[in-house]
Amino acid sequence: MLPSFAIPFRSGDSPTLQQCLAKILLPRTFDLYKDIHWEQAAGELQTPHLSYPNYYLVPHHGVKAGYLSYQQAAGWEAVEHLFRIPRVRPSVVQMARDTYPRTIVDLGCGTALTSIELVRSLPQAQLSLVDLSPYALVAARRQVQQAGIAAHITYLHADAAHTPLADNSIDLVLVSLLLHELPYENAREVLLEARRLLRDDGHLIIFDPIQCAVPWPSLDRAVNRALMHMMHEVYWMDYATNPVWNTCQETGFHNIQRQLLFALPWIYQVVHVTK
Ligand SMILES: C[S@@+](CC[C@H](N)C(=O)[O-])C[C@H]1O[C@@H](n2cnc3c(N)ncnc32)[C@H](O)[C@@H]1O
Repeated sequence: MLPSFAIPFRSGDSPTLQQCLAKILLPRTFDLYKDIHWEQAAGELQTPHLSYPNYYLVPHHGVKAGYLSYQQAAGWEAVEHLFRIPRVRPSVVQMARDTYPRTIVDLGCGTALTSIELVRSLPQAQLSLVDLSPYALVAARRQVQQAGIAAHITYLHADAAHTPLADNSIDLVLVSLLLHELPYENAREVLLEARRLLRDDGHLIIFDPIQCAVPWPSLDRAVNRALMHMMHEVYWMDYATNPVWNTCQETGFHNIQRQLLFALPWIYQVVHVTK
């Protein structure tokens, strides 16, 4: 464990590995968050009496408190860098921008760096950021302020599978690095919710790690099992064995396309569908 003076996120807490990495790898982000009073800010964004699905309340990514902790939100950008997400983000943003959306929802937004980047180049767009973690929304709000786009954003502390947003109202739903975090049934519910929110012909863009990378199923399963343990992912095998494009088809989406994005050694996929 690092001495506590190295991690001024909140006195009295032990630093997580993610936080240590954030300080070393990303001093800019560390500075961006360092004066946040996390509990107070989370209280401002929290939906009172929201109930959390059971799958959400377990340790994730090696953080004991799971997603419902400021540590996950504060350390997420360091994890992104380790998995070289910034390298592929411009391609995801470009694909989303090419749909010319004016209303956008980012389900499971986390720090929202992809949708923020998108909205920076779309002066007419309005973006709703949805996450079950109020701490993620706190981090996203700080990133939004830094990007100077606060007037375009609303924050919603809600389950991505059951939002209070109106039917058929959205041009583009973004689901980035969320589905691999969910049990299959919940992932399916999120896709159904995306479909409910989208206007006819609206677009859903799903960004996540590659599925079915290895053509031999038993080897594919073994590789994924190793990845699951390495990354402390709880529901990874559900994700690895249920191709997103099949679930999109079952939940009523059309024009299903998949594109691979390479940030070696990692490979990602974008599944782009329409309602
Ligand atoms: C791996 S992070 C990805 C964050 C972000 N979309 C990105 O691409 O960087 C997953 C996020 O999904 C959120 N999440 C997980 N299950 C959720 C659910 N059912 N509803 C809303 N947010 C959820 C977590 O709190 C976390 O912030």
